[in-house]
Amino acid sequence: MRVVHSAKELRELLQIQKKSGQTVGFVPTMGALHAGHARLIENARIECGIVVVSIFVNPLQFAPNEDFTRYPRNAEQDFEISSNSGADLVFLPSTEEMYPAPQLTFVEVTRVGDYLCGASRPGHFRGVATIVLKLFNIVQPDRAYFGEKDAQQLAVIKRMVRDMNLPITIVEVQTVRESDGLAMSSRNRYLKPAERKAAPALYRALEAAAKLAKSGERDARKIRDAGLVLLRAELSIRVDYFEVVDNEEMQPLQVVQPPFRIAGAIWIGTTRLIDNVLVS
Ligand code: PAJ
Repeated sequence: MRVVHSAKELRELLQIQKKSGQTVGFVPTMGALHAGHARLIENARIECGIVVVSIFVNPLQFAPNEDFTRYPRNAEQDFEISSNSGADLVFLPSTEEMYPAPQLTFVEVTRVGDYLCGASRPGHFRGVATIVLKLFNIVQPDRAYFGEKDAQQLAVIKRMVRDMNLPITIVEVQTVRESDGLAMSSRNRYLKPAERKAAPALYRALEAAAKLAKSGERDARKIRDAGLVLLRAELSIRVDYFEVVDNEEMQPLQVVQPPFRIAGAIWIGTTRLIDNVLVS
């Protein structure tokens, strides 16, 4: 596995590979890799000739009050996980490499990016879509891998690819969870022991809401409430949102019609966690 810091060098290396007929699989990440990221890389390994992982904590997708500066960074461990999962190339650019001049051009996926996390984190998906398009232009992958854990991000990227005619297949990968159901996340390492114990309540709430929907309930408010009661019973949890949305545009539903998603975001202390389930 090779580590590359320069976009120009990465482009040149990949051009040679593409000329020899290799398909390129791409896994964009912000590092602090865990078993969820590893699953994305492993899937790319199975399906592609060359596997590229990018590690870049993108300042553009963090608001000034968010955790950009304390976001966990551990390049050596990330290299090991990438290598063990089958990556051929790791792209680890500096902020200057990705933003050599102030960024004046942005990608905004309206509607899909407006609700849920888009409402709680204004500008977040604009930052995500902009960096992902920049990375796509550098790597020019055939296939790019994204986790269902960030379902709204996935929907935003899918819509960007479709709206902008990008010749890239977006591959969705199921959420990898801890044994108690907590979705793996780089932010889980912020949790203190008592907070870590409370955290799986989010998945339990999603499952309870999904169970009611699967039993035939079609009223989104009742489905939502079935999850919310469980979250409200956890005194250390503050609910940011808990919503029932359609799976393409992430808009709130009143009456559900599968496939749809139940998505939640919670605060535990100073840590914000998100998760979702698909009801199909
Ligand atoms: P990051 O949070 O590092 O996530 C990178 C990819 O890993 C995303 O596609 C995310 O959905 C996926 N992922 C995270 N946890 C997962 C889990 N438990 N199971 C399966 N997949 C999981 O998402 C970002 O970085 C950034 O916004 C990025 C797309 C890189 C743009 O900066």
